Amino acid sequence: ADKKIAVLVGSLRKESLNRKFAQELIAQAPAGLLLEIVEIGDLGLFNQDLDETGPLPAVWTAFRAKLKASDAILIVTPEYNRSVPGVLKNAIDIASRPYGHSIWDGKPVAVMSVSPGAIGGFGANHHVRQSMVSMNAPVMPAPEAYIGNAASLLGEDGKVSNERTKELLQKFITAFSAWADTNAPKA
Ligand code: FNR
Repeated sequence: ADKKIAVLVGSLRKESLNRKFAQELIAQAPAGLLLEIVEIGDLGLFNQDLDETGPLPAVWTAFRAKLKASDAILIVTPEYNRSVPGVLKNAIDIASRPYGHSIWDGKPVAVMSVSPGAIGGFGANHHVRQSMVSMNAPVMPAPEAYIGNAASLLGEDGKVSNERTKELLQKFITAFSAWADTNAPKA
């Protein structure tokens, strides 16, 4: 059967480099791997009261259900001030609650960080990994993907044009497919 991969992009910017790299991963996905970006921009800010006393936002229910139904989750994120953008952390937190119903528990995850800077979003990448480990999500250790100088890797059409980068993305998505199989939750 096809495997469903939910993709979370940690930037809401229209011209987001991260979204462009996510699109490239979608384009390179092997047959049988269905990647779909799940939007996080309209979730509103997490507030525990909304789960406990309501009104429970319908967008949270739909978001959680979508992630729950996915076989694995791919996170593609920029780094903000050496950490995770608030908009992504908010989405991660919403998906982790209510207590005991976290969608992350046992969910295979991979993280790619993309930056126009030289460090390739290392800080954000590892802060996401830290959260994932704490929530018992098996995060793919390698290949690591810290995409630095990202703007220079795109062609005029906004697509990834650098051949070595394309190869890395191919390795990354192929390895993640295998990781999702190996760590698939037992039925
Ligand atoms: C940044 N940027 C940035 N880049 C980086 O490599 N390390 C960092 O710590 C930060 N910090 C940071 C903070 C804030 C508030 C903003 C808005 C930006 C730059 C960032 O990588 C750049 O804007 C990217 O283009 C953002 O990703 P998208 O939107 O292109 O996907």
